[in-house]
Amino acid sequence: MEFRPALAADAPAIAALHAASWASAYRHILSPDWLDRELAGDRLAVWESRMAAPDPMMRVLLAEDAVGSDTGLAGFVCLFLAADPKWGSHVDNLHVRPDCRGLGLGRRLLAAAAELALAEAPGQGLDLHVYVANTAARGFYRRLGGTESLAEKEIAPDGSRQTYCRIWWPDPARLLAPA
Ligand SMILES: CC(C)(COP(=O)(O)OP(=O)(O)OC[C@H]1O[C@@H](n2cnc3c(N)ncnc32)[C@H](O)[C@@H]1OP(=O)(O)O)[C@@H](O)C(=O)NCCC(=O)NCCS
Repeated sequence: MEFRPALAADAPAIAALHAASWASAYRHILSPDWLDRELAGDRLAVWESRMAAPDPMMRVLLAEDAVGSDTGLAGFVCLFLAADPKWGSHVDNLHVRPDCRGLGLGRRLLAAAAELALAEAPGQGLDLHVYVANTAARGFYRRLGGTESLAEKEIAPDGSRQTYCRIWWPDPARLLAPA
């Protein structure tokens, strides 16, 4: 598995993985009709826009696995450095390709994001938002030592009203600890 920063040309592959991940993990959360009809276009628009004019504080890391002479995207993490004076840097999105889940890649991606946060926004925490209904991801974040608190409601991309939790690591170095 190799890690590298994303380039503008990676937008379609990131969007495709993001959509596949939501389609499988969010079917009990977001509208199935929206997932089937709108999701792919929605994620493509998001990633084309993010990568065409990157926020200077955004960092996107890709994990690629080599299959023969080809490489395939297996996961990605997107981080916004120093996003909030209280919570610190913000992870806004972490996704592992459905067939690669449970192999330690999510942990490695979050550790790589923590390394970036420690290097480029030292002395700050790391947080992310997760839907309350995403119990699998909340279990994963608990396993990695994140502190959970109920955050707020937001309008999700499918138009539904969702409650999410904030997961916080006051010291991102906690995420560098071995399993
Ligand atoms: C959530 C996600 C990123 C986790 O990545 P992953 O590669 O599947 O998880 P890992 O294999 O790295 O798991 C790391 C540890 O967490 C544990 N873990 C994983 N899922 C867990 C769960 N539901 N409950 C408790 N522990 C869990 C693993 O057992 C492992 O523990 P270990 O170190 O003792 O072996 C991934 O499953 C995913 O992309 N899910 C769908 C999209 C999603 O929900 N993203 C998060 C949005 S906020």
